[in-house]
Amino acid sequence: MKINFLLLVISALLAAIVLVVANPACAQVQLAAPTAKRSLPPIPGLGPAPVLPANPTPAQKADYARQMAERTRQRWNYLLTDSLMRTKVFNEAPNALLVETVQGHPPGTALDADMGEGRNAIYLAQQGWQVTGVDIAEKALAYAQQRAKKLGVPLKTEVHDMATYDWGTNKWDLIVLSYAGGRDYAGRVFQALKPGGLVVLEAFHMDATSRLEVVGGDYRVFFNTNELPKLYGAAGLKIVRYEEPIGTADFTKEKLRLVKMVAQKP
Ligand SMILES: C[S@@+](CC[C@H](N)C(=O)[O-])C[C@H]1O[C@@H](n2cnc3c(N)ncnc32)[C@H](O)[C@@H]1O
Repeated sequence: MKINFLLLVISALLAAIVLVVANPACAQVQLAAPTAKRSLPPIPGLGPAPVLPANPTPAQKADYARQMAERTRQRWNYLLTDSLMRTKVFNEAPNALLVETVQGHPPGTALDADMGEGRNAIYLAQQGWQVTGVDIAEKALAYAQQRAKKLGVPLKTEVHDMATYDWGTNKWDLIVLSYAGGRDYAGRVFQALKPGGLVVLEAFHMDATSRLEVVGGDYRVFFNTNELPKLYGAAGLKIVRYEEPIGTADFTKEKLRLVKMVAQKP
């Protein structure tokens, strides 16, 4: 009787194992160990995120956008002036694509959009470029100015939202969009570059959203496959280099799929 019961339990267990292995749905449940997305640490003093009501009025949409922009400013003011974040989470060295692109290139005028704490702008200034860095995070710009002063290099900075900034016409030999977005900028970049001028853009591929939290649902630094060459090609720029490699991201130091583009105004 006891042996019969034992055999019954063993065969039930075996049947369960066979079911799990053979059934793809069960196997998926087994394999799909929850991989937590990496998110940035909480920002001291930053209250709860605003909520956009269902069917918002234009005024509610505008208010939500204003509150989100203010949160972005506070977040980057904190993150980029926190020494631990700068050294442990972000790459303090200049962006490698930018360094490769300007090597051997005669310096000229450069616009560093969404400059941050100045790693790229200061590198360019050290190579003789006349750099203007624009960002909404005034504390990050102040930090960059301090560093530039210490290093004895000239750096012009402006606290401004890039969406409403006057990029100028035929003004820049180089525009840097390093983890700064670029989806809405192609036309402005074309107009603002001098003929022969270059735009250097690096950001995350959309694939990286499986690992990274998309803060506030803002996809400005995430791009779909071939989205950028299509946008910038259509705006009249010549694509000099375009890659979507798995690489070390400057803003997480993780291996993620990135997008890297260099384009030139003919
Ligand atoms: C990921 S950091 C990149 C900083 C810098 N480009 C770099 O590669 O080191 C993003 C920066 O964009 C700035 N930013 C975000 N939205 C902006 C906007 N609408 N106008 C200007 N700056 C903005 C943030 O303040 C922050 O400094």
